[in-house]
Amino acid sequence: MSVNKGIELKNLTIKYRVGEEKHKAVDNVSLTLRPGKIVGLIGESGCGKSTIMNAILDTLPNNGFVSDGKIIYNGTDLLKMNAEQRRQVKWTEIACAFQYAQSSMNPVAKVIDQFLDVFEDHGIHKSKEEKNGTSPRKKS
Ligand SMILES: Nc1ncnc2c1ncn2[C@@H]1O[C@H](COP(=O)(O)OP(=O)(O)OP(=O)(O)O)[C@@H](O)[C@H]1O
Ligand SMILES: [Mg+2]
Repeated sequence: MSVNKGIELKNLTIKYRVGEEKHKAVDNVSLTLRPGKIVGLIGESGCGKSTIMNAILDTLPNNGFVSDGKIIYNGTDLLKMNAEQRRQVKWTEIACAFQYAQSSMNPVAKVIDQFLDVFEDHGIHKSKEEKNGTSPRKKS
């Protein structure tokens, strides 16, 4: 991916399969996230905020699916990408800081190490100084 043009949701509709039925959780939502800008999505509990975020990140629960619309990132519809293309974008270029961070982070590991693990996992490697322990961020 080259120039970051942001993310555009176009007429996004997301449903959950529950038994034989399909429940609409997000109905025809369009919005634009521009680089460098902050967009707040506000609504009552259950209105579909997390569902939208999960659709963007491709982390919807197994019974959830996008039934209509587009998620355009840098001119490409994320929903049309294959699994490998989607994996390359996920967490590297589009990521999420979850609610209840205390339950998604390990309380006995340093925050910096947890971030570094994620960077390593996405091919962003430690400097030589960090590897040999001469960095100011060296582990104690
Ligand atoms: N896996 C699921 N199966 C069926 N319905 C679901 C599932 N996950 C969420 N829902 C329903 O989809 C709707 C949207 O839920 P969502 O979690 O996106 O809301 P939210 O706006 O993030 O709420 P909150 O502010 O409480 O985090 C709700 O009616 C919820 O019950
Ligand atoms: Mg939520």
